[in-house]
Amino acid sequence: MSKSFHTTKAVVTGSSSGIGRAIAIALAKAGVEQVLVHYRANESGAVETADALREVGCEPVLLAADLASPEGRRTLVASAFQSLGEVHTWVNNAGADVLTGSSAGMDFEEKLRHLLDVDVTGTILLSRNVADRLMNQFEQTSCSLPASMVFIGWDQALEGMEGDAGQMFGPVKAAVMAFANSLAQASGPRLRVNTIAPGWIRTSWGESTSDYWNDRARGQSLMGRWGSVDDIAKAVIYAADPANTFLTAQTILLNGGFNRRF
Ligand SMILES: NC(=O)c1ccc[n+]([C@@H]2O[C@H](COP(=O)([O-])OP(=O)(O)OC[C@H]3O[C@@H](n4cnc5c(N)ncnc54)[C@H](OP(=O)(O)O)[C@@H]3O)[C@@H](O)[C@H]2O)c1
Repeated sequence: MSKSFHTTKAVVTGSSSGIGRAIAIALAKAGVEQVLVHYRANESGAVETADALREVGCEPVLLAADLASPEGRRTLVASAFQSLGEVHTWVNNAGADVLTGSSAGMDFEEKLRHLLDVDVTGTILLSRNVADRLMNQFEQTSCSLPASMVFIGWDQALEGMEGDAGQMFGPVKAAVMAFANSLAQASGPRLRVNTIAPGWIRTSWGESTSDYWNDRARGQSLMGRWGSVDDIAKAVIYAADPANTFLTAQTILLNGGFNRRF
């Protein structure tokens, strides 16, 4: 356990399932005192995350907010700073699911607009506001170390991938990654900003996918396997570790090494 997370507080957006839940639990195991578990609709999933945090001695704070709405973003920011006081780690993980559930039936344009609303506009407007507060916190309070913000991108966003998924997630996650880099340029040394860009990670879509995608996910990784949510959580812990004070403006592609022979 890293001592540097002790007495710190964190917010993980979209931590009612998948990668976000694993990040929240990893932060709790690393010693974070309080984690705000943010979600949109999956309340039982958020409660499950909260129970897992309590088991390792971390106090959860649950909050539902739709990041596509200005009201939702305002509520999240106000509640986070009210309930936690200072915030040391902010993870922008929430992202619209257009591959499973009811959204899977939408057409390309509807999916694209939904992703742009949630992942791009929602994330950018939310994190500009949060970043201002985290920088003020550094200047005005007893914080001796800069807070850290971590974004979640996608390893294939910049190189491109064939098909509808590539044409939706590519521009959406490339925008998130580009924004994070620009925010990092504006924030140092008062705030550290980094991005973890996952490859094929076995979450709900990966659990139920076809043999083709199973083979492709394994084959496109030099390590010959799907990534796990814990692989991503470990990288977020590294990026967010308050002791890593020289780490900012970086994008880590976490895909087991992209296999170009596949
Ligand atoms: N899985 C992969 O292979 C992979 C690869 C690259 C990048 N990513 C990115 O990693 C992040 C997590 O993905 P995941 O696979 O763990 O997905 P997930 O299990 O579907 O989790 C997504 C989270 O985002 C929340 N969310 C969705 N729409 C929202 C909205 N409008 N407002 C607020 N919160 C909202 C969900 O909340 P509710 O369910 O409570 O509504 C959920 O907590 C996403 O940004 C995704 O694009 C995933």
